Amino acid sequence: MAAKRVVAVFGSTGAQGGSVAAALLANGGYTVRAITRDTTKPAALKLKEAGAEVVCADLDNETNVESALTGADSAFVVTNFWEHFNKDKEIEQGKRIADVTKRLGLKHVVYSGLENVKKLTGGKLEVLHFDGKGEVEEYFRAIGVPMTSVRLPSYFENLLTFFRPTKASDGETYNLAIPMGDILLDGMSVSDLGPVVVSVLKCPAKYIGKDIGLSTDKLLVAQYADIMSKATGKTIKDAKISLDAYRSLGFPGAQELGNMFEFYQMKPVRNVDLTLELNPKAKKFQEWMQQNKDAYKDL
Ligand SMILES: NC(=O)c1ccc[n+]([C@@H]2O[C@H](COP(=O)([O-])OP(=O)(O)OC[C@H]3O[C@@H](n4cnc5c(N)ncnc54)[C@H](OP(=O)(O)O)[C@@H]3O)[C@@H](O)[C@H]2O)c1
Repeated sequence: MAAKRVVAVFGSTGAQGGSVAAALLANGGYTVRAITRDTTKPAALKLKEAGAEVVCADLDNETNVESALTGADSAFVVTNFWEHFNKDKEIEQGKRIADVTKRLGLKHVVYSGLENVKKLTGGKLEVLHFDGKGEVEEYFRAIGVPMTSVRLPSYFENLLTFFRPTKASDGETYNLAIPMGDILLDGMSVSDLGPVVVSVLKCPAKYIGKDIGLSTDKLLVAQYADIMSKATGKTIKDAKISLDAYRSLGFPGAQELGNMFEFYQMKPVRNVDLTLELNPKAKKFQEWMQQNKDAYKDL
């Protein structure tokens, strides 16, 4: 029997990598090398129980990255801007992985990238957590690593956390404060990423060199609010917040997220048909909301 392909999964204890590791394990055709800085945390222990090889590595340490990738055939790579809010650090981590994958000759890397907005807008708009990933995408390609970039839209799960509706001043209804004006916002459940990545890894010739913009739904903020209202029985409305008002909200990352929404208003390519071809079971927002409505009981 042929040995199973070893796929190294960065961020395996998190949302994106966790979904990818689960989908690879469910597929059965791969040896999953789940990478974390802490092999004793509950998510790491669960991965081990599910059959993954759990490996300790810090993206800031090249020797760690090299040993985590030695013997791997392919890798899924995600870096976490929100842990440090530092574009240069995210670029350093991404380029470090790119260099090691090149040196070790990995056959296929699926990188969780995003657009280099600064470059695309001629410096008019900067979105640090996009721009860094965009530079890393360019670097992978420049040094000749066989790479596919998957560009995620805003996760539906953000509506449970950062973009959770808040009580309006009338004390009864709720505001959904997402500054998209009258432009459609792409979204998907991050839990549906895994099967997308498995499909991409199965067809390297088709997807190497491609940037795949993911989305399962394109909706107005008012439509998100309407679907949320119907599922929760609460009245949730588009707050119609402007970009500048959002940027001034004052929480850490408000400016950065405001800039991101300004870029989303430029309608970056996110391909619903291709996403559903890569993962036919990926959820539309309505289905996701039905499955998650209980999380809004205490709204
Ligand atoms: N939220 C969205 O809508 C959205 C949309 C598109 C893109 N993104 C991007 O997604 C990224 C975050 O991914 P996520 O949502 O999967 O994050 P997450 O759930 O917070 O997980 C982060 C993962 O990164 C790992 N990690 C962080 N720093 C590391 C380091 N120095 N060495 C090794 N592993 C490290 C963590 O592993 P351990 O802690 O176990 O070591 C953890 O598994 C961000 O960069 C963001 O820009 C988010």
